[in-house]
Amino acid sequence: ALAALTIALAGCSGDRGAGVINTVGTVDFSNPLLIPPLAPSTVAADGTRSFDLTAQADTTQFTPGVDTETWGYDQGFLGPTLVMDRGEHVQMNVTNTLAEATTVHWHGMRLPARMDGGPHQLLAPDASWHPDWTIDQPASTLWYHPHVSGQTEHQVEMGLAGMIILHDDAERALDLPSTYGVDDIPVMVQDRRFDENGQMVTDVRGFIGPLGDQMLVNGTVDPFLDVTTDVVRLRLLNASASRVYNFAFNDERSFDLIGTDGGLLRSPAPMTGIRLSPGERAEVLVRMVPGETVTLRSTPPDLGLKPTVSEQNAGADTLDVLELRAAGTLTAEAVTPSSLVPMQKLSASDASQKRSFVLNGYNINNKLMDMGRIDETVEANSTEVWTVENTMPMPHNFHVHAVQFQVLRVGSAPPPPELAGWKDTIYLEPGVRYELIMQFGPYTDPNSPYMYHCHLLAHEDAGMMGQFVVVKPETQ
Ligand code: C2O
Ligand code: CU
Repeated sequence: ALAALTIALAGCSGDRGAGVINTVGTVDFSNPLLIPPLAPSTVAADGTRSFDLTAQADTTQFTPGVDTETWGYDQGFLGPTLVMDRGEHVQMNVTNTLAEATTVHWHGMRLPARMDGGPHQLLAPDASWHPDWTIDQPASTLWYHPHVSGQTEHQVEMGLAGMIILHDDAERALDLPSTYGVDDIPVMVQDRRFDENGQMVTDVRGFIGPLGDQMLVNGTVDPFLDVTTDVVRLRLLNASASRVYNFAFNDERSFDLIGTDGGLLRSPAPMTGIRLSPGERAEVLVRMVPGETVTLRSTPPDLGLKPTVSEQNAGADTLDVLELRAAGTLTAEAVTPSSLVPMQKLSASDASQKRSFVLNGYNINNKLMDMGRIDETVEANSTEVWTVENTMPMPHNFHVHAVQFQVLRVGSAPPPPELAGWKDTIYLEPGVRYELIMQFGPYTDPNSPYMYHCHLLAHEDAGMMGQFVVVKPETQ
């Protein structure tokens, strides 16, 4: 069994040592893309929608005959997709059957800090946790994953991650492709490295953290997708620990970006490639003609590193990701509307506070994460401008919990289309100042912090994270 995996790996790259096996032309796309199941839920008389999630250990065969130890929620690897509606009250019942503590963080969600699932909401082995909140944000693609201090990379790489799809009326009115698994496709992209026994290699620290030599989409090796409609909506999620992708198609076709981390754009933005760093999402519409085949790939992203640093050491590779195979006859989708949703622009003149964050080495503002230290205190419902700069020639990004922000400026320029919508995570090109504007929510708790951090998981685990609390104005 072990030999089979080794041969499969070696057979693809011709040079196992060089690392990347999914280089262009080396993948045979032999496996149908796994679509994570929709998580079952029940709705109580008061309208509360409840989901049960169990973190568990299992084994998964990524290669036939090779049992890889994996973790998942309710299944062997990854977790089901949670679908929720704006305005709905949700109740999560999370149980940890792992032998170690974990948390479940709802990445991108606007919610009270105690429900956030950050490092303070630790769930011991055999313990359960029952956060609940009301969905109060636009239709979007979010995700959930563990957030244990120093253990996030390991736990995510073992398989703990899943997608969340939020719907609302504004989105429904647009008639976008929305049949899950048919024309509305979750695409969770992860790179992994397996050792000679077929086991996941995790806990890799160093420059950027782990870079896998095997691409997985929704946990599928070498995936293809049978497409039956003339437009397909891909919900791209970079669920990798470290790698930054530039998603594009092998024929360089243009696609429409319709949504970013926190919601739909004002109007579709045609483009031929989109850079996504770990944690970021993009919803794209791809047009297909009957009978054709096109490959979603990642071309080397521009990481903005100084020439002295090899971008390739930072994972700027060309990788095949997913083959789309159009049927001989395709069902026609509704015409994509030329405008999507209104988005009120947050204005710097409404900001009551400015803060700046400098990412230097693995520090933020010269500090490493300390769970006992509150770094920033912000007022409920206030608007703030956060200026963030990565001063090191290495890839970092920046994620803020509990808010979706807008980008005011990238250096001295207005944001490009892919940064012009709601975001909660943004790649930081070294030496460029990013001005972010955000409005905090109504939930206050002086004792329970939210996080901001680099979402390269090995960096986060190394302490590249800070804490903020949201308080009532009078208590500040
Ligand atoms: Cu996706 Cu603080 O995390
Ligand atoms: Cu980083």
